[in-house]
Amino acid sequence: MDKLITAVLVGAGNRADVYASVAKRHPDKIKIVGIVEPDEKRRELMRKKYDVSAETCFSSVEEFTAREKFADAVINGTMDHLHVITSVPILKRGYDLLLEKPFAVNEAEMKLLNDTAKMCGRRVVICHVLRYTEFYRAIKRAAAGIGDIISIEMCEHVNYHHMAVSYVRGKWRSEKVCFAPMLLAKSCHDIDIMLWMMKGSGALPSSVASFGSDFQFGRERKPEGAGSRCMADCPFVNECIFSAKANYLAAVRWGQYVWRCLDGEELTDERKAESLRKDNPYGRCVWDFDRDGNVDHQNVIINFSNGAVGSFSMIGGSAKSERNIHIIGTRGEVKGTFEDSKYVVRRMAPDTKAGYIEEAHDLRVEGDMIGASGGHGGGDENLVLDFVKYINGHEVSDSCATLEDSTVSHLTVFRADEARRTGSVVKIY
Ligand SMILES: NC(=O)c1ccc[n+]([C@@H]2O[C@H](COP(=O)([O-])OP(=O)(O)OC[C@H]3O[C@@H](n4cnc5c(N)ncnc54)[C@H](O)[C@@H]3O)[C@@H](O)[C@H]2O)c1
Repeated sequence: MDKLITAVLVGAGNRADVYASVAKRHPDKIKIVGIVEPDEKRRELMRKKYDVSAETCFSSVEEFTAREKFADAVINGTMDHLHVITSVPILKRGYDLLLEKPFAVNEAEMKLLNDTAKMCGRRVVICHVLRYTEFYRAIKRAAAGIGDIISIEMCEHVNYHHMAVSYVRGKWRSEKVCFAPMLLAKSCHDIDIMLWMMKGSGALPSSVASFGSDFQFGRERKPEGAGSRCMADCPFVNECIFSAKANYLAAVRWGQYVWRCLDGEELTDERKAESLRKDNPYGRCVWDFDRDGNVDHQNVIINFSNGAVGSFSMIGGSAKSERNIHIIGTRGEVKGTFEDSKYVVRRMAPDTKAGYIEEAHDLRVEGDMIGASGGHGGGDENLVLDFVKYINGHEVSDSCATLEDSTVSHLTVFRADEARRTGSVVKIY
């Protein structure tokens, strides 16, 4: 029988909380036994939530790794640019690691983490949660039955309020803040899915081209007469699609980001409104942020070593969030939409009137598909349970994104961004 896996949360923010919540639902599989979090209020909140002893709560990784190893693994949910700097001492202390994406923000960091994991002989799994959704697992199974893959077309439409909260007002607005351009911060998952679909072919991404820009945001696009804070001085507060009042007060959206600054306080409507009027960064006008060249849309074209091609479009600013995938093989095709949890498989059939036979599938997955409250269509929970199995000595599963695996997709994203910045075709492998 598998043993109960003990884990320490490093960076006890939103994502760490999502993963730790699996311990509440599966107390026989995983237990949180330590917390490393510099924000004292947050540390205490999470300590109480997961019933962790104060003895094993720390304000820094240095303090934590000065102690002998006392758990099986670490769940690292720090922000993008802290992943490598915090993970290196953790690996050296002998912990296996579940690490958020992007696992590194540049190629030098990517190499350092790979070298350290290898040197320490530790297992590192990257949180590519989409691989664990019923939808992408079904697409992968179906793709295995359509012959050799010729082409993969994918897109990710990030809706306007998700775009505004995360990539304009939020933590991923600018590389100066999070060190990760939008393709890396948002869509390294999608590029990972594309490469995961191609994995069986043995082909590697060989070169990449990319285009993108900031189409909608930046000070020069600010409507004339708009204020600096939606609820304090903006005459467009009741009509702007990005209005903080409409998106965070009237509609209950993105609370995990918008109300983080009120951690520990009673969240009354009055207190929320006051914070948006005064000092909450999510109450600021979307056209007032320095985005430092970050994009709101980007297209990527990848050439594979066997001649197959992949294309991916990320568009931040759609009405509805949607991920589409269309894979064409030499014997058929697979096409689906993640948010609808529906896909079709078409197979060549020259003896039929249409020339093909189509099977429609409805997976009827319910719940949160975009991860606004941490669901990712079941991917978050499946990822943690699979990590627990891996740490328990089971074979690595097909969905598991090991560090080695994820390095291929991260390198592809780094090179795609280089292609966009330089306007050239960049070699990958
Ligand atoms: N897998 C996914 O689908 C997915 C979805 C959203 C976000 N993410 C990624 O998850 C990561 C975390 O995002 P989040 O929204 O949970 O962030 P967060 O800000 O809520 O949490 C990060 C926590 O790390 C703490 N921290 C800061 N410095 C630290 C240090 N030196 N050592 C330890 N802790 C430190 C912060 O105080 C904070 O509590 C990001 O890299 C993000 O890109 C992944």
